[in-house]
Amino acid sequence: MRTRLCDRLGMAVPIIQAPMAGGWTTPRLVAAVSEAGGLGLLAAARLTADQLRGQIEETRRLTGHPFGVNFLVPGPSPAIADERPAVAALERIRQGLGLTGPGAPAGSATPVEEAIEVALRARVPIISFAMGSPRPWAEPVHAAGAMVIASVTTVTEAEAAQAAGADAIVAQGAEAGGHRSTFEAHSLEALPLIGTMALVPAVVDAVTVPVIAAGGIMDGRGVAAALALGAEAAQLGTRFLLAHESGAPPAYRRRLLEAAETEAVVTDAFSGRAARALRNAFVRTFAEAGARPLPWPRQVAAAVDIYQASLADDGDWAPLFAGQGLRLARREQAAADIVRELVEEAKAAGDRAR
Ligand SMILES: Cc1cc2nc3c(=O)[nH]c(=O)nc-3n(C[C@H](O)[C@H](O)[C@H](O)COP(=O)(O)O)c2cc1C
Repeated sequence: MRTRLCDRLGMAVPIIQAPMAGGWTTPRLVAAVSEAGGLGLLAAARLTADQLRGQIEETRRLTGHPFGVNFLVPGPSPAIADERPAVAALERIRQGLGLTGPGAPAGSATPVEEAIEVALRARVPIISFAMGSPRPWAEPVHAAGAMVIASVTTVTEAEAAQAAGADAIVAQGAEAGGHRSTFEAHSLEALPLIGTMALVPAVVDAVTVPVIAAGGIMDGRGVAAALALGAEAAQLGTRFLLAHESGAPPAYRRRLLEAAETEAVVTDAFSGRAARALRNAFVRTFAEAGARPLPWPRQVAAAVDIYQASLADDGDWAPLFAGQGLRLARREQAAADIVRELVEEAKAAGDRAR
């Protein structure tokens, strides 16, 4: 199962743990996956520079193997005609939960340039980007001796990412949990939703750099399928949320274990950008109110107190991002056991296909 990308990224097996912002991809999880022969990725979004520095240091204390850091680099989102319905909906939710609000003060996150600088100074060897072109950052990343991974959702984005200097490309299929990694902020109607099965081989044919498949890959059958489609590694998110070492709180884990695939819907209610998440009271309330969310990144800032309170409770008012394969993860496990199981199953699936 060793691919040329395994050698480039320092992996023994072609398994990448997806970066998952929100506090889920803890240093313990990232280190455990890298220790087990895969590649763990930290998620920098919404961390301060100090928090990111701390997470990199802690991961290094836990593993001598390579790991990476991921950054969200979305361009500007278009304004919406009327923000009042969103503000009113958030206020109603806040009152219902007995919160006094408001959300986070605007502008509290560290600018992405500064956060990337933190990772490069710490000599992190792999820098991954999502939700935008890596173009502005490829040169400084390469100058620091690190590799650029870019996440895309279409062949056009893959070609642009390669031209912008990406050393490897994540082809994120529509099944994927979390934000759609489109370079532009599309409306839900115009959103490209190309499935992993169709996207991966088309991207493999269109670029010369190694391709990583993501979206709905939950077990070794999916890993084997990704490799058969020409990908050189599989990147899994939802499956690793259920690792013992992930930061997912109990309510999130419970919902993942109980939910059906039909509940993992694409919505922009949580952040103003399209993401696949479990349909819950927050998604329903925004839909019923006919309220457009505030443009990225203001919806998250305006609702963060609601999300935090809900995550500590039953998760009904928080973003529970999840991919369509969620039925295939039916228990919590140590990250190393997940990696081991994926490899064994992928080998068996490969044998069956021969
Ligand atoms: C909870 C969650 C948070 C995510 N956050 C990020 C992120 O911060 N950066 C990123 O590049 N991708 C993020 N993703 C998307 C993953 O990189 C990946 O594309 C996706 O998890 C693959 O689909 P799967 O969940 O079906 O395995 C997130 C996914 C989930 C489920």
